[in-house]
Amino acid sequence: MTLLEFDDVSITYQSRHGRVPAVRNVSLSVPLGQTVGIAGESGCGKTTLTSSVLRLLPKSAEVTGQIRLNGDDVMAMSFGQLRAVRWAQAVVVFQGAMHALNPVQRIETQLAEPILLHMDVGPKAARTRVGELLEQVGLPASRARAYPHQLSGGQKQRVMIAMALACQPQLLIADEPTTALDVMVQAQVLDLLSSLVADLGLGVVFISHDLSVLASTCDRVAVMYAGRIVEQGSASDVFARPLHPYARALAAAFPRIGDARFRYAPAGVPGDPPYPGDLPAGCPFHPRCPAATDICTTSEPMLENYDGRDAACHHAGEVLV
Ligand SMILES: Nc1ncnc2c1ncn2[C@@H]1O[C@H](COP(=O)(O)OP(=O)(O)OP(=O)(O)O)[C@@H](O)[C@H]1O
Ligand SMILES: [Mg+2]
Repeated sequence: MTLLEFDDVSITYQSRHGRVPAVRNVSLSVPLGQTVGIAGESGCGKTTLTSSVLRLLPKSAEVTGQIRLNGDDVMAMSFGQLRAVRWAQAVVVFQGAMHALNPVQRIETQLAEPILLHMDVGPKAARTRVGELLEQVGLPASRARAYPHQLSGGQKQRVMIAMALACQPQLLIADEPTTALDVMVQAQVLDLLSSLVADLGLGVVFISHDLSVLASTCDRVAVMYAGRIVEQGSASDVFARPLHPYARALAAAFPRIGDARFRYAPAGVPGDPPYPGDLPAGCPFHPRCPAATDICTTSEPMLENYDGRDAACHHAGEVLV
């Protein structure tokens, strides 16, 4: 059974200015033991898609399609079932989550909380587990007594990862876990995530706007644009031989890790992604696409399989010949 499955998932926000289709017809699966990367510029729908797994979306979001965790339909779960799933089956480390640590509580208190709540253990066993978790993420167990302000950014991010692992989940969703960190520390945190995946056999969804980071840490990669997956396949295929012009631009961009400017403007692609509430006709990428032709301005390409991977581009077949 697949750990996580998105089956034709669309997510639309109702805003004062109308409907915002932030995610459109996404199908994606994450098997246990695999790391799946989601790439794309700001606003492409990465966080919206992954927030749906634990039903963390605001009330204004309408979800269609199916999201299955170990075969169970997430949207059909009762609140009690959902509570059992959170922490114990699937966890999310959010963008900038390290700033969410409580400044007036010691690390051990914050790490012990989910363990005491969700696992059947007493305070002593919880404290032992906290020490183990800290060592697992490369911090000395003695740091348990520290307050968040006594830790560096990278150490705080490690604590967030330890917290995510506290209840031994099967699925870890890491939403740009390293963008707030400097280059060296980012590389260390990414190494840590990769080794944890190998040791613990989790399924991981790893979100980044940086395709080169995903290529080195993931088994498979999905590239999102304007709410849709426009290319997906093995990380090496998508990075080394991208079929969609947008994937090609991201692969060629080599954003410097940690350089915030690349978040909004990958090198070589002029302009910005469209606002999902106001998509252009045809292929949503056509206004920025160097390879666009007439058909791209009138008809939106659907994902099609090419040689073991999927791409949504009228001209993808021409790249392969
Ligand atoms: N609560 C909301 N109401 C209306 N629109 C929203 C809401 N939340 C997000 N959006 C819109 O949905 C789109 C997708 O947002 P999302 O946060 O999923 O993008 P993202 O790919 O995670 O971007 P980033 O890289 O900046 O984190 C954006 O255009 C955003 O403006
Ligand atoms: Mg996001």
